[in-house]
Formats: sequence, structure tokens, C-alpha cells
Amino acid sequence: MSQPVVLLATPVPEDLAARLRAHFTVVEIPPGESVAAALDDAQRSRINGVLTSLRTRFDASAMDALPNLRVISNFAVGFDNVDIDAASDRGILVCNTPRVLDAAVADLTFGMLIMLGRNMLNCDAYVRDGSWASKGPFPLTRDIRGKTLGLLGMGRIGRMVARAAKAFDMKVIYHNRSRSDEAEGLAEYVERDRLFSESDFVSVHVPLTAETRECVGEREFGLMKSTAYLINTARGAVIDEAALVRALESATIAGAGLDVMVTEPLPADHPLCRLPNVVLQAHVGSATVETRRAMIDLATRNLIDALTGTEPEAMVNPQVWTDSVNAAV
Ligand code: GLV
Repeated sequence: MSQPVVLLATPVPEDLAARLRAHFTVVEIPPGESVAAALDDAQRSRINGVLTSLRTRFDASAMDALPNLRVISNFAVGFDNVDIDAASDRGILVCNTPRVLDAAVADLTFGMLIMLGRNMLNCDAYVRDGSWASKGPFPLTRDIRGKTLGLLGMGRIGRMVARAAKAFDMKVIYHNRSRSDEAEGLAEYVERDRLFSESDFVSVHVPLTAETRECVGEREFGLMKSTAYLINTARGAVIDEAALVRALESATIAGAGLDVMVTEPLPADHPLCRLPNVVLQAHVGSATVETRRAMIDLATRNLIDALTGTEPEAMVNPQVWTDSVNAAV
């Protein structure tokens, strides 16, 4: 029997590529390139599995262009680049990389929280441009300790951020679709509006879905204190970005820390880049050497396992796996 064929739509370290080549025939395309454009019909019809980053989209038509596709292994915890319903309808298993990036994303979230609260970016500029010498001491900021952190979304990353906040003696409240037993002792569940009105920092930790798209907008900014900050390390489109720019320009809220934006890379002429009360990062929540290695390890393992009959560690639509196991007996 011929070997399964896997498509690498993202580069993998040489040792992992060798592991894949030991099991499969490997085809590679540049990251972000559409599968339909990169491969002809005959090449596409041979593909059984894909290892991809967020940069390549798998909607229904991309899946239909790969008639023998069985597994999409996403090199990310988020999977908004994949139409999960379309995958499930076609019996395509989707895997992702949860857990291994929780700490790195939580660290970046907390880093931005401190940068905002202590106005570190502007203080850095104040030193560099000579203002410290010419104008005197930098304006006072506010304590982090004793302030309230509101987490919108209380999954694994939200809980990791809550733990960091505890070490800084913050009060932590959260709102989630449902109360989380795992949040017990870490954070207090509150109604959604209370989250926005009581928090000094609101940090967003929900996946991007049809329900969460632009779920934080003008109404929520209106509820927030004028001294409060918004932090987003989840997905840009969870926030109504135009409303955020208005809220920042009108001082409805004090500032924002954003690792993710609606358009990435963020163009340098975007209004967010002109605002002094915004800390911007380049979608780097998980971008450390150790974490990215753990993620690509897991994504590779998920792909090999799924195509060789072992239940993968992290599945987004596990029903597809269960159905395939039941069909085989
Ligand atoms: C990064 O954004 C991820 O989803 O892993």
C-alpha cells in the first residue's frame, strides 16, 4: 500500500520533517499560499493530511479541492482559519495545540497589563527624548496591586492570567458562557455588564466564533471606567476595532494593550499606531522559542497519530475520530 501524503503549509524543524518523511510522502507549499493555487488537481487529490499555520485558510472550497483529505493539524490553539462545520461534514478531523502555550500567552497579557498600568511605554520615550532631563519627573501612575482584573473568557489561558494576577494581589472577576469549576478560588464569576463596569483592566480570552465576533464594542466601552484598560491577546475581530479607536480617542477608556488586530500585520498608518495610550504587539503571545517548539511538536504528533490510527492528543472535532473508529469495527 502506498504511503499517505501530507502537505506542509508551514515550515517545520528538520528533525520533525524527518519524522514525517519516515511515515509519509511530504509535499510542501509556502505559508499563506492557497492550496488550490499552489498544487494542481493530481497533486491535490493525493493529499491525506495537512499541517498548517493560521495563515492558510481551510474553508469548504479549500477542503473540496482536497478530496482525500482526512486530517488538518493546526499549528495554533485557535482554529478560526478552519471551517470546523465544513470539516466535520466531510469527515475531516481537525487538531490544534492547546495547553503548551498557556503560560507564554498569559505572560504577554500580564506584561501588557503592567506596561499600561505603569505607563511604561511613554516613560521610556520620556527618558529617550530628553524630557526627563528638561521637564523633570515623569507623571505619577497608579498601583496594580489592589486593582480589579476582569477576564472575559475563563479557559486555560484565562486561568493562567488569573494566577499571575493573584501574585500581584489583584481582585480577579470573570465572565464566561458558564461558571467554571476550575476557576473556584481563583476568580469570582460576575454578570457580563459587571465585568466591564467594575474592572480596572479587562482582558479578553475567548476564541473567535460567530458569537464572539465584535462582542466587545461601543456598549461595553461605555460601561468601562474612564481609567480602565482593555487587553486583547485572543483574536482582533473579537473587538469592534473602529469602536475601540473611538473609545481611545475620546478617552472613554484609558488605554489598550493589543497583541492581535483585525488586519495582521497591522499597517503602520492604522489609527491604532498613532495613539499614545496603546501598547501594540505583533501577535506574539506564543512566540517564544520554547513554546513554539512545543506547539510544532504537538501539531506534528497530532498529524502522525491521526493518520496512523492512534487517537491524537488534541482534537477540535473529536466526534469525527469517534465516528471513524466506530466505522472501522
Ligand atoms: C495563536 O494565536 C494561536 O491560536 O495559537
